[in-house]
Amino acid sequence: MASPKIAIFFYSTYGTNHSVALEAKAAAEAAGAEVRLAKIPETAPQSVIDGQDAWKAQQERAADIPEATPDDVEWADGLWFSGPVRFGGQSSQVRAFIDTLGGLWGTGILVNKTITATTSAQNPNGGVENTLMNLYHAAMHWGAIPVVPGYSDEVKFEDGGNAYGYSMVGGNDLTDVQKRSIAHQSKRLVEITAKINS
Ligand SMILES: Cc1cc2nc3c(=O)[nH]c(=O)nc-3n(C[C@H](O)[C@H](O)[C@H](O)COP(=O)(O)O)c2cc1C
Repeated sequence: MASPKIAIFFYSTYGTNHSVALEAKAAAEAAGAEVRLAKIPETAPQSVIDGQDAWKAQQERAADIPEATPDDVEWADGLWFSGPVRFGGQSSQVRAFIDTLGGLWGTGILVNKTITATTSAQNPNGGVENTLMNLYHAAMHWGAIPVVPGYSDEVKFEDGGNAYGYSMVGGNDLTDVQKRSIAHQSKRLVEITAKINS
């Protein structure tokens, strides 16, 4: 396969998962992929967002990024999802987007797409593994192929060691280790996607 098509989807209230998605995009492009970046649509009422300066600021930061649609999922060979932990699991925004994919599931086009995921939480053990597994659980119903980092690179022994996907405490600029871990996971998604589609 010449150039795998990778769709990077993120939902971010305060900016962390947006930064992760930008890092993943840069690494996927460096690894030779054609990349689409899309934000998962907001579902919270605008009045609630307007009541929190940090939420509003993130909405403005992401204003120019196109909203994710099922067409982006159909287009891609490989999928990246990044979103925060909410009460120990996925955010309702990510789940709502997943729940728009029933039509694509019915066509069988989700079968053999690769997928990887990253997340963030307030606490290192605030539900990150469960949140990633929630997403892979849905992906297994599609017949998609989870591409997880495991311990496939030395950086996994420096980054907190979440074998299911990079996870972090949100709210800070990305460190060098965090950038390297995201880049490794992104490159791995591109390489495995290319192999599966060769
Ligand atoms: C409604 C709500 C529920 C949350 N639940 C958890 C949780 O269960 N565990 C945790 O560690 N952090 C929790 N958080 C913190 C978020 O995970 C954190 O704000 C997020 O990872 C930051 O990512 P973002 O900057 O991309 O929005 C919660 C935050 C909100 C607003």
